[in-house]
Amino acid sequence: MVGAGFPVRRMRRLRRTPALRRLVAETSLGVDDLVAPLFVRAGVDDPVPITSLPGHFQHSVASLVVEAKRLASLGIPGVVLFGIPEQKDAVGSGAWDPEGVVQVALAELRSALGDTMVLVADLCLDEYTDHGHCGVLRADGSVDNDATLELYQQVALAQAAAGADVVAPSGMMDGQVAAIRTALDGASRTDVAVLAYAAKFASGLYGPFREAVDVTIAGGGDRRGYQQDPRNGREALVEVALDIAEGADIVMVKPAVAYLDVIASVAARVEVPVAAYHVSGEYSMVKAAAERGWIDGDAVALEHLLALKRAGADVILTYFAGEVAEAMRD
Ligand code: PBG
Repeated sequence: MVGAGFPVRRMRRLRRTPALRRLVAETSLGVDDLVAPLFVRAGVDDPVPITSLPGHFQHSVASLVVEAKRLASLGIPGVVLFGIPEQKDAVGSGAWDPEGVVQVALAELRSALGDTMVLVADLCLDEYTDHGHCGVLRADGSVDNDATLELYQQVALAQAAAGADVVAPSGMMDGQVAAIRTALDGASRTDVAVLAYAAKFASGLYGPFREAVDVTIAGGGDRRGYQQDPRNGREALVEVALDIAEGADIVMVKPAVAYLDVIASVAARVEVPVAAYHVSGEYSMVKAAAERGWIDGDAVALEHLLALKRAGADVILTYFAGEVAEAMRD
């Protein structure tokens, strides 16, 4: 009985001490859950700071290797690579050039790290096209789905040859997973896994990333003609089911915190691992508010990433990976 005169279930009993709270915690975040996104830029000798992503750089191949080794020593099991070529063109040929910056970086990382770190290559054309779209354009300026698939196949083969363990198609073309799986299997690269950006929404939260990779979409355009409409949750389940049927080994939801409902419903339905991409804008918002002293950035970062685990994510791509791993080690 309490003061109010009725029996109350005492929920606070299990919150009394840190040990009790640890004992009954349903969810935990570990360094093993994390994949760190990294940027590598052709033709630079020193890393170039990315102002919209504080603490992150457009790396040279040499500084990329140093950073990846540091992340590996913190216990982080994977990195995902994005490239910034010296020259962009209409078809994004730097994406599959054997001498392209990501291919060179993959080979260097593989020789420096062996199998201690999973090397994931983002597979898209937008960093390499002069118009900034994720595929090639028709004369009327629209993205040609099937012509793009043929190029994605070449990118997958180049990334696999350079040493990628996992290729991660992020362009939201229909049939991209099947096209890539077919190309890899045809080249006897059945060992290379596909992490599909399966439910990727057209989001304002990718803003800082576009600065990071020097991408401006031509004519003030956007990606709503191929990325998902944020108003649709059930449609994400169709995308995920299609990607699994096409051979995806891991399915990803992106962005993350604004799409926890999607992560939870995907995790409840699929048997393959589920990844969540805590994207550039999610990172930068936390950093900017923390810089102003409005929030405790470290606490909010952990809260965000734990929320993704609670929703059912097995793998988390996050710009906080290094910081969080350092905090866990200390
Ligand atoms: C496309 C790609 C994007 C991101 C990852 N892969 C950009 C986009 O779709 O516009 C965004 C990642 C982020 O914002 O952190 N290659």
